[in-house]
Amino acid sequence: MSIAEKFVSMEYGPAPEDPKEAGAWLERHGRRFGLFIDGTWQPPAAGEYFDTTDPSNGEKLAAVAQGGIADIDSAVRAARAAAPKWRALTPHARARYLYALARLVQKHSRLLAVLETVDNGKPIRESRDIDIPLVARHFYYHAGWAQLFEQEFPDHEPCGVVGQIIPWNFPLLMLAWKIAPALATGNTVVLKPAEFTPLTALLFAELCQEAGLPAGVVNIVTGDGRTGEALVKHPDVDKIAFTGSTEVGRAIRSATAATHKRLSLELGGKSPFIIFEDADLDSAVEGLVDGIWFNQGQVCCAGSRLLMQESIAEPLIAKIRDRMSTLRLGPPLDKAIDIGAIVARVQLDRIERMVAQGVADGATCWQPQVTLPARGFYYPPTLLSNVHPTSIVAQQEIFGPVLAAMTFRTPKEAVELANNTVYGLASCVWSENINVALHVAAQLKAGVVWVNCTNLFDAACGFGGYRESGYGREGGREGLLEYMEPTWFKHAPKLPPANALAAAKALGQTEELPDASAPAIDRTVKLYIGGKQARPDSGYSMEVHSPDGRLLGEAPLGNRKDIRNAVEAARKAESWARATAHNRAQVLYYCAENLAQRQGEIVQRLAAAVGEKQAAAEVELGIERIFSYAAWADKFDGAVHNPPFRNIAIAMNEAVGTVGVICPADAPLLGFLSLVLPLLAVGNTVIAVPSEKYPLITGDLYQLFDTIDLPGGAVNIVTGYASQLLKTLAEHDDVDGLWCYGDEATVSAAKAMSIGNLKQVWTNEGRVIDWFNPKLAEGRWFLEHATQVKNIWVPYGE
Ligand code: NAI
Repeated sequence: MSIAEKFVSMEYGPAPEDPKEAGAWLERHGRRFGLFIDGTWQPPAAGEYFDTTDPSNGEKLAAVAQGGIADIDSAVRAARAAAPKWRALTPHARARYLYALARLVQKHSRLLAVLETVDNGKPIRESRDIDIPLVARHFYYHAGWAQLFEQEFPDHEPCGVVGQIIPWNFPLLMLAWKIAPALATGNTVVLKPAEFTPLTALLFAELCQEAGLPAGVVNIVTGDGRTGEALVKHPDVDKIAFTGSTEVGRAIRSATAATHKRLSLELGGKSPFIIFEDADLDSAVEGLVDGIWFNQGQVCCAGSRLLMQESIAEPLIAKIRDRMSTLRLGPPLDKAIDIGAIVARVQLDRIERMVAQGVADGATCWQPQVTLPARGFYYPPTLLSNVHPTSIVAQQEIFGPVLAAMTFRTPKEAVELANNTVYGLASCVWSENINVALHVAAQLKAGVVWVNCTNLFDAACGFGGYRESGYGREGGREGLLEYMEPTWFKHAPKLPPANALAAAKALGQTEELPDASAPAIDRTVKLYIGGKQARPDSGYSMEVHSPDGRLLGEAPLGNRKDIRNAVEAARKAESWARATAHNRAQVLYYCAENLAQRQGEIVQRLAAAVGEKQAAAEVELGIERIFSYAAWADKFDGAVHNPPFRNIAIAMNEAVGTVGVICPADAPLLGFLSLVLPLLAVGNTVIAVPSEKYPLITGDLYQLFDTIDLPGGAVNIVTGYASQLLKTLAEHDDVDGLWCYGDEATVSAAKAMSIGNLKQVWTNEGRVIDWFNPKLAEGRWFLEHATQVKNIWVPYGE
């Protein structure tokens, strides 16, 4: 074509990035890779390899080792052996290594970008301008945390050996999100890349060598799901960090339930993209292009559900179609390409299947005229309109360049539609009215809200989900907390099976037996549901005895129905979360005041169960504990981040929601207050199962709660057998979180039974918590588990 003709057609010419360097790197390795274990390259024990291919043309790039159980074992051993020395380094020395890795990522950024694109199929524009710079940013940012670790987190220690499993959509970026915080906090790592995209992780292993990272600190074991499973099941791994499908997340939760492995899960999403009628529609459409067609839509936080205000639906759809027609689809190494290849045949099949199902459900499918390349796996940008909110394409993650559009009328309806999903990863709100946008942002159940912007990420801003999008955050201070534990907790003694009083004795709190001469107090208590005393559904009760066998009274035997009623009441009391922090503090102070007024009689009653000394201590410290959380209620603030764009990111500490609590048996009053009060302080509503040994405390508790200004249902108390009530709480889909204090068997059961809606479970891991020591039994650690961080990004400037 002549230059004159080109001026007429204005067609793009090809502008491919040079793949030579990446090819040379692959050739240097003979296009065959072993495993990176203990600082060296090792062949897989079973000698198995699989091919990784270029999805843009289907050609083989290299053979990669299929790591097996023996290889995972070698890698974990190497990581374990390297752990003490790595941890013993000064924070500054660790910071220097992370800094070196950041520098090396920058130095090799072009090679990394090209390799990422050929292995994954994503446009080079994205890997070059987004993925790799963010990778470097994560290592720089965490080099800073490594430096500050001891100052900022005194009395904490790393989890130990961390197993990390990552997906194929952002191969090196997910590696950085996982490895950088783990190393910064002194952990050692075994990482398994996704089977479709292992190459940049292998190049990263070389960068670790180049940086002189001590052998065994980072180990890379390639392979498929079986390799991941072996890592999850390895007994000497202290924590698993996973990003991938919700289905595999559930399997991992289940596989780790009977262990003390800490777990963070970053799972799927079906994120709403809400456009109000007053939005700058052209900007919103540009945002949408990024929201759903970035990385071919294979993004966990993709804005895959478009919610448009009805009044602008028609012109908006027209604008979207126009813009879709200009998206350029083709070989991803071409710098002028917007949409590259889908990662693999199986993913392409999945997208095709789901779109067909959406159309069968009644959606209208529109695609621009595009010519798909003859080879490779491509799928055109797709708009599904008239989508019913219950259709599979509105509910399930498609993980492809497919947008499902729906309309709404009012902001309230927008919020309802937006939250009508099991997920809660991200969301976008477009409106020129900042008041409306922030009002809606606050109501969205999602870990990230982008206001008038899309897909912004930064190492300083935590990223992660609500609900079935997983738990734990990556990035920011909160992301670091996933990789460390308070030192005392890590080394706390184990609670003897189902014998919590013995544990209290071990701590020296109940040397004296209750005074046998004291008269038995014959009492009957009720359940406390929705702010009212309630009879149990079963009509049965349990006898409560003192340690020396005297009958102290009777408590109701709560059952499934009672728990369900309590959950319903707790849900209805969510106005508590919207009360001002000052208001919550006042209510809690008043609660402390009431307890102080009734101190004498409560001590007297409690003494029959735990002895006078402990009873006196429980009430005295109980008053203090309530005061402490009243104090925290208006001080456990979030943060405002300044990411390197013209944005602020407001990190809000939000309540988890409705939380079930299994209270300790050994400190009936203080244990209850220590767990329920931090939850209340930050706005959760609670269903608590009080001490099974002394459920009569319920009578004193509801008198406390009755006299304060707590909305009925903010606290509910169901007495009975913890093991039975735990099951209903753990399996209940309307319970967002579960705190369980108990022996090892009980806490394992809590984790295993909670996989249905992947509720957040926090337990004592079967360890003893000394409720009588305020340094250990109250404060930030509890509040951090009572909240989840939502980052709201707001741009500024014209
Ligand atoms: P996947 O969840 O199977 O794979 C993610 C990682 O987990 C890979 O490294 C894989 O080898 C590993 N894995 C698989 N089974 C495992 C097991 N039993 N134990 C431990 N590790 C295991 O996701 P897949 O099959 O690649 O994609 C399927 C769908 O999942 C996608 O269509 C998408 O909807 C969703 N997905 C979501 C991602 C996200 O970022 N939220 C990322 C990847 C996939």
